[in-house]
Amino acid sequence: MEFKTIIEPFRIKSVEPIHMSTEDERIAYMEEAFYNPFLLKSKHVIIDLLTDSGTSAMSDRQWAGIMRGDESYAGAASWERLEHEVNDLTGYPYILPTHQGRAAERILYSYLGGKGKVFISNTHFDTTRANIEFNGAEAIDIPCKEAKDTASSFHFKGNMDVDALEDLIKKYGREHIGAVILTVTNNSGGGQPVSMQNAEQVSAVCKRYNVLFILDCCRIAENAYYIHHYEGGYSTTSYRKIAQQMFALADGAVMSAKKDALVNMGGFLAIKDEQLAEACTSLLIITEGFSTYGGLSGRDMEAMAIGLQEVFEPDYLNYRIKSTQYLGEHIRAKGIPVIYPIGGHAVYVNAGLLYPHIPTHEFPGQALVCELYKKGGIRAVEIGSVMFGKYDDNHKLIPAPVELVRLAIPRRVYTQSHIDYVVEVFDEIIKTAKTAKGLRIIKEPKFLRHFTAHFEPIK
Ligand code: F0G
Repeated sequence: MEFKTIIEPFRIKSVEPIHMSTEDERIAYMEEAFYNPFLLKSKHVIIDLLTDSGTSAMSDRQWAGIMRGDESYAGAASWERLEHEVNDLTGYPYILPTHQGRAAERILYSYLGGKGKVFISNTHFDTTRANIEFNGAEAIDIPCKEAKDTASSFHFKGNMDVDALEDLIKKYGREHIGAVILTVTNNSGGGQPVSMQNAEQVSAVCKRYNVLFILDCCRIAENAYYIHHYEGGYSTTSYRKIAQQMFALADGAVMSAKKDALVNMGGFLAIKDEQLAEACTSLLIITEGFSTYGGLSGRDMEAMAIGLQEVFEPDYLNYRIKSTQYLGEHIRAKGIPVIYPIGGHAVYVNAGLLYPHIPTHEFPGQALVCELYKKGGIRAVEIGSVMFGKYDDNHKLIPAPVELVRLAIPRRVYTQSHIDYVVEVFDEIIKTAKTAKGLRIIKEPKFLRHFTAHFEPIK
């Protein structure tokens, strides 16, 4: 007998209070934060869906591991455990610990990149793109064609367009390709999974042209869930085995452990090639720390090693994916346009469709993010023209392809009733959709502007 209610496969041992603010309070907080949720204080947020990154609740096993952390500068036992775990999972011999994902990206892509180099991905995450472009290289996104069809229920919309990949390698010449990066799941592309078949095809093209193939694997356990359940031939293969099989196709991996390693801080770079690993290790030691801790404390590494095991547990993954789907399916049933099927770590609302009266240069996604906070104290993030928009030579906005808002679900943090509350807040969002107003940017930095930009509502 399978029951409908998704119960959290854990009991709660420690709690953190949430302050229930009023709408009037939130209107004032929003103004103080210049209508940018990144500038809000977390104590003023009721349900924080800004990110699933570093926001996981750790298990009692992980907290016990924290006490066991070995803080030796070199050769710590906690490092040995982490190295063993990552080596077993990825199959790669060279493991470099980093304090988070973008540190691994900076090391690898600054070494491989620079002027004249091109990186190709299903979709570069924003820090990935920024690290590549900061060093003068170019980052090109080639999501599969199915990704554009928001109505189709094709399950692997995170796939890369393999024909486009081959064309780009031929166009630029293999010697100019820094790396091909497959992001699993494809975060900026809607949290959609990548099929094993697609990873195999990408791997084959990279091998044929002798181009480096890197996995951005921060949500690889969630991706494995989809392969197991929706790609033919994997229903008897464990989630962990599926992940191992995918790692075997690539030459290396970059991981933000703040996602599927169930920790609040951490990351790694894992590499097959000895020479590349040596070059990266030098950069690691200069900027992150010695090669057996790389900017992490022993206790962080201990918690990561345990989290990397727990994340593949079937009860956990089943609850994780089903509860994200629950949120997505319920708001979709109310008429909220979402990227479909629902991805693993987040629900992506198409704010452009929800607010057709707000033009892209007035940022419909940012408008929705502000409405969600005002109405329900829910913090979400815009993934549209604020995050990915650029300017032409006349300072006219070149909009992002689509105006999304991401509701990212922290791992093991919120219960079913929290999620039901979010669903209810969307009733208000629908009721007041026609009166939502756009915003203009009044201050912005050159890179990653969404973190710190200031806005004002358009009257
Ligand atoms: N790659 C992907 C696919 C990511 O989603 C992130 C982070 C990173 C790399 C960088 O990792 O934050 O540890 O430096 N994503 C977070 C998010 C920030 O909210 O999606 P990091």
